[in-house]
Amino acid sequence: MAERDPSFQTDALIAEDIDAYLEQHQHKSLLRFITCGSVDDGKSTLIGRLLYDSKMIFEDQLSALESDSKKVGTQGDEIDFALLVDGLAAEREQGITIDVAYRFFTTEKRKFIVADTPGHEQYTRNMVTGASTADLAVILVDARKGVLQQTRRHSYLVHLLGIRHLVLAVNKMDLVDYDQATFDSIVADYAAFAEEVGIETFTPIPISGFKGDNITASPSPNTPWYNGLSLIDHLETVEVANTAAQERSFRMPVQWVNRPNLDFRGFAGLITDGTVQPGDPVRIVPAGKTSKIKSISTFDGDLDEAGAGQSVTLMLEDEVDCSRGDVIAAADDPPEASDQFCATFVWMDEEALKPGRGYWLKLGNQMVTATVQPPKYEIDVNSLEHLAAKTLKLNAIGVAEFSTDRPITFEAYAKSRQLGGFILIDKFTNATVGAGMIEFSLRRAQNVHWQPTTITREDHAALKNQTPRVLWFTGLSGSGKSTIANEVEKQLALMNRHTFLLDGDNVRHGLNKDLGFTETDRIENIRRIGEVAKLMADAGLIVLTAFISPFRAERRMVREMLPEGEFVEVFVDTPLEVAEKRDVKGLYKKAREGQLKNFTGIDSPYEAPEHPEIRVNTVDMTPAEAANYIIQQILPLK
Ligand code: ADX
Repeated sequence: MAERDPSFQTDALIAEDIDAYLEQHQHKSLLRFITCGSVDDGKSTLIGRLLYDSKMIFEDQLSALESDSKKVGTQGDEIDFALLVDGLAAEREQGITIDVAYRFFTTEKRKFIVADTPGHEQYTRNMVTGASTADLAVILVDARKGVLQQTRRHSYLVHLLGIRHLVLAVNKMDLVDYDQATFDSIVADYAAFAEEVGIETFTPIPISGFKGDNITASPSPNTPWYNGLSLIDHLETVEVANTAAQERSFRMPVQWVNRPNLDFRGFAGLITDGTVQPGDPVRIVPAGKTSKIKSISTFDGDLDEAGAGQSVTLMLEDEVDCSRGDVIAAADDPPEASDQFCATFVWMDEEALKPGRGYWLKLGNQMVTATVQPPKYEIDVNSLEHLAAKTLKLNAIGVAEFSTDRPITFEAYAKSRQLGGFILIDKFTNATVGAGMIEFSLRRAQNVHWQPTTITREDHAALKNQTPRVLWFTGLSGSGKSTIANEVEKQLALMNRHTFLLDGDNVRHGLNKDLGFTETDRIENIRRIGEVAKLMADAGLIVLTAFISPFRAERRMVREMLPEGEFVEVFVDTPLEVAEKRDVKGLYKKAREGQLKNFTGIDSPYEAPEHPEIRVNTVDMTPAEAANYIIQQILPLK
């Protein structure tokens, strides 16, 4: 493609105009849609055509486009619309990780936001991102190729994400001589697939993005056999306004708490479902407290009634506890609150899901730590079969049970996209690694209460005359963890300290005898040991643990379970060569010979601590010296 003038307008610039643009078209309703299709189905051409026909192309873009089209040799005056969209995409590539381009255009009757996502299979995450806010999806099919695996995959995803308005745009009709039989057979194929997936209706339209057939208002003379609407006519008139949302029970997730006057706090947020009036009884979920609506305010003054889609500030009759992330709901029909649920989710990260690991889960304004059980099954998007799976890789879709560190408020996704959809975020990289849809709650957290005890952890510690600690030894097999930990415990005993040593080989004979050495099992191994160590620290003990504990994420999880300063990471930094040479248990030899799988340092990773509180080794120190050094570091002990 020819070099572009640097002043060529980017979406960033368009974004600046959007406010003015939306202002100008305020009275029109808005339709958000997504286009999906395989590579070469003509998506870019179609979007370019829509933008062009609605005159949403800026003048200088248009002239660049016309000259580019000439350069790439389009016939006559035909403009290659794909160049327009691809040109914009190329400029967006730098610095944007999720590659979804939102484009805005308007017609006489409606304004539109279209999410354009790349069609390759590896871009499932982009599609999920684009689809999550769309009301309608245009599924593009090349008339010469018919329904492909990609078509099925995209349709399945779009349906899964709750889009209930589908257009099957059979494109490139010009290349099959506008043949009705071809169109009919593609529609029949798609109908069969749609039924399997549970797609109830779809609107098929024969089009040519390139030639313009059935795109704009007038029906094309090339398809006299087609009596339906053109694409634009359909997009302009399709009824997507969710009147059903108004009829459901009232819900408003609290976005922030403010004080519109001195006496009362106001709770601001977007009403996701139902309607509300002053005097209505409401319940704050998950806490469960009830109150009544005192008033509903907006920028334009107080309201007698508000409903789904409106942003308001609610004031309640009573001074109840309610903060960001809570949901104010109809008192007699509140949403669920639970710390365990089952969900369908899409994995979006290069690194596969690690069952048992803690991820951030963000649902609306709520953010909690969640762990995922090994999937019940993976869904083959092409055949819709359920496959056995231990984890999910990039782009895979599966069903699993989730548990969160505290109850969250939600609803099944089928009932509410806002209260049922969530994303998972990696705690280290902050990348979005998954997107999920809650199916149902597994148990009600309200029934499980932490038993408050009279003798506190402080009492336990005071009775033992010491400050609890968890000395967490980590390092390779054969690095000397157990030997040093044992030595430290001996010295602490001589100092009259109350201690307990949890050791890898021992715990694996009892509490954790059901666990092996896969990543998932190691994560679970450390999770259980962390919980036990925490209970022992609550009992006032100085706990010593000696486990390889190869993953940073789990060591950090245990650290976060304990009060600040109580977790002391001791890195036994013995190099692999040394540990392997010693090979006290003969396991390295076996691992090298392939008789022992997943051996740390050989065919399973060890993530060394980046900032351990204490670092020792068994190369330049004897175990006794290392132990002395460690004790020096942790004094005083009360
Ligand atoms: S951890 O990775 O889950 O923290 P843990 O410390 O409990 O491991 O157990 C490690 C001990 O199990 C090793 O010292 C070694 O004796 C034994 N072992 C048996 N198989 C393996 C293996 N595949 N990888 C590492 N250690 C193993």
